[in-house]
Amino acid sequence: MKGDPTDLGFSTRAIHAGQPPDPLTGAVTVPIYQTSTYVHDELGRHKGFEYARVQNPTRSALETNVSALEGGRSGHAFASGMAAISTLMTLLETGEHAVVSRNVYGGTYRFFHQVLERYGLAFSWVDATDPANVEAAMRETTRMVYIETPTNPLMEVSDIAAAAEIAHRHGAVLVVDNTFLSPYLQRPLELGADVVVHSTTKFLNGHSDSIGGVLVARSEEHGEWFAFVQKSAGAVLSPFDSFLVLRGIKTLAVRMDRHETNTRRVVEFLSGHPKVRSVLYPGLPDHPGHALQQRQASGFGALVTFDVGGYDAAKAMLDRVRVMSLAESLGGVETLISHPASMTHASVPREMRDSLGLTDGMIRISVGLEDAEDLLADLEQALAGSG
Ligand SMILES: Cc1ncc(COP(=O)(O)O)c(C=O)c1O
Repeated sequence: MKGDPTDLGFSTRAIHAGQPPDPLTGAVTVPIYQTSTYVHDELGRHKGFEYARVQNPTRSALETNVSALEGGRSGHAFASGMAAISTLMTLLETGEHAVVSRNVYGGTYRFFHQVLERYGLAFSWVDATDPANVEAAMRETTRMVYIETPTNPLMEVSDIAAAAEIAHRHGAVLVVDNTFLSPYLQRPLELGADVVVHSTTKFLNGHSDSIGGVLVARSEEHGEWFAFVQKSAGAVLSPFDSFLVLRGIKTLAVRMDRHETNTRRVVEFLSGHPKVRSVLYPGLPDHPGHALQQRQASGFGALVTFDVGGYDAAKAMLDRVRVMSLAESLGGVETLISHPASMTHASVPREMRDSLGLTDGMIRISVGLEDAEDLLADLEQALAGSG
């Protein structure tokens, strides 16, 4: 494609933004620039590239692309979602405070609580589904509000625009981890957020073959700081992984549509199954966050959590799945099924899991792109043998 795709539709941007034909050869696909350094034309003159920790054309293409999809000013790609989050947290200085939605990804909780608190940062963990709780937790020293919506595995939905209003009124920034819905279904910057975080490991890459993360900044100031920390701390995404994520994003829209169609079938099946005590999915009309999610996103995503009553029943079911893979992670073409209490959320202390309502009987599915009939048959046989 020739020209600037920024005004075009989502899929057109996903396929073209940041990816003009290669200037040297016309290659339609951005090459993997597998180099550590770049030759200068003469002392004091180079082509804009000096050293690959600082700039790499494959990584830049991905950064421009994700930023265009989220509607940001700049994107910054890192070696993992956690590396992106580590860089993000350098916005805070010793003595400052962040309000965090209580049921964020377990690794985020571990990093904030067990690492960053050692450096004099303070965190309040709140039920962000009610903006009044965010408001009540704000302090003089609060510089950040950090939310995920919907959360994992409890599928709690928080109001992005309300959180942005509260954060800004108190001189803080709003950060949204948008990993679960992707910019195809939800664009937090349009709702007032200042920074978006992604684990590209999930839906953006979409094929379970790369670990990575991205920060998208709305302001020039944040973008400059992220680029500075990226080159200073150095946890950059490799050229090959950047290529994989770029390739994954080209099919994001069609994948998300199919993810959602399959998820609706799975949710319907689980909701009618006698061994399933409850199903958590924001797409269900009786889900407490249903109306809000309908307002602030254009879909409900591909994650569903259900409760089979206890650890033994969950284990019996999980040990029997055949088409679904018992594995952590989410957002890949293959359906992944997991036991949050002992897998993704094992680093969250039991008392906190109990207070959140994250039970030992909960199972989470990241619904993939297989034939829905095969997924339903797999659930049927696994539940039949679960006692
Ligand atoms: C919502 C969310 N944010 C961040 C991360 C961390 O990303 P990564 O595993 O790529 O470091 C994860 C990982 O599961 C996640 O689910």
